[in-house]
Amino acid sequence: MKAYHLNGHAGSGRLVRTDLVKPEPASGEVRIRVEATSLNYRDLLILDRAGQGGFDGRVPLCDGAGIVDAVGADVIQWRAGDRVAASYFRDWVSGPFKASYIPSALGSSTMDGMLAEYVVLPATALVAVPEHLTSIEAATLPCAGVTAWHGLIARGGMGKGNTLLVQGTGGVALFGLQFAVALGARAIVISSSDEKLARAHALGASILINYRDTPDWDAAVMTATAGEGVTHVLELGGPGTYDRSLRAVASGGKIIQIGVLTGFGPKPDLARLQWENADIIGVTVGSLEHFTAMNRFLSEHAIHPIVDRVYDFDDAPEAYAHLRSGSHFGKIVVSL
Ligand SMILES: NC(=O)c1ccc[n+]([C@@H]2O[C@H](COP(=O)([O-])OP(=O)(O)OC[C@H]3O[C@@H](n4cnc5c(N)ncnc54)[C@H](OP(=O)(O)O)[C@@H]3O)[C@@H](O)[C@H]2O)c1
Repeated sequence: MKAYHLNGHAGSGRLVRTDLVKPEPASGEVRIRVEATSLNYRDLLILDRAGQGGFDGRVPLCDGAGIVDAVGADVIQWRAGDRVAASYFRDWVSGPFKASYIPSALGSSTMDGMLAEYVVLPATALVAVPEHLTSIEAATLPCAGVTAWHGLIARGGMGKGNTLLVQGTGGVALFGLQFAVALGARAIVISSSDEKLARAHALGASILINYRDTPDWDAAVMTATAGEGVTHVLELGGPGTYDRSLRAVASGGKIIQIGVLTGFGPKPDLARLQWENADIIGVTVGSLEHFTAMNRFLSEHAIHPIVDRVYDFDDAPEAYAHLRSGSHFGKIVVSL
């Protein structure tokens, strides 16, 4: 079968086409014919680490959806022809997060991912694709969608009457925006681009701030909320955004700590958190249980993920380059 793997010694591309033996499902496992896979910011970080411990030879990308192609013995919940998507952590089915789940992240240094024609996974690591979604749409859900769901809704309790601050217009950001709009919460989007802000407005964002033109966007958020601030912040930037997120959060609000778009290790002044009686919720994607609950919500509200562009399998390196450019709005997909 055709696949890509990482190779840190393969020049600047580091993504190498390869042929692998089609895997066979053992007892309790399912083979999926991958129809589509999508890219996340973490896949750029991983590509950049090719050549370092464990990444070389790994099939990249955590996101994917496709058709059940064969099932091993003792699999009762799936049969050939079912439409499924893979959960980000193979081993995190339900309940609270445990550090022991980390090595089971797909497309990591310890586990192969979805940029291949076929993958084999445990039957317990899959969700049914909502009927209203294509495989291309479903492939966008496992990382970005589940992260936004877990942080904002499962842990953050976002609902009607809340105000969400969304940073940028990438994958996680637009899922957060769509969830807020569906729940009747008000959404504020900051972006580098007026054109992207116009598209966010069309999706239901009511307050739009260009963070290039308005670098003190936290003050603009305060003005737009009559000095109250936002009940929820989708914190995607890290060191470059954290202090402003803290200044934009409302009393009793929640900062959903997710991203590293401006780097790692923010050193924010947490005093305001204390004075505002606000919370920080740290999120690492989510469980199969979160994924299943999110899919119910997507079906109930007929939400379609925002797909920026679909690339052919042969053009996967171009898909990575497009993600790195930051010019996308929503998700970038590779179709098989
Ligand atoms: N903790 C977790 O479990 C988890 C899960 C998923 C993702 N993440 C992290 O969440 C972040 C977003 O991931 P993603 O895959 O959605 O990324 P993405 O699709 O690549 O999003 C990139 C977009 O972010 C915006 N952005 C960049 N710098 C910004 C800044 N300084 N301020 C505000 N917006 C900025 C830009 O939007 P505009 O062009 O509109 O400005 C850019 O196009 C990444 O850091 C990723 O590693 C973490």
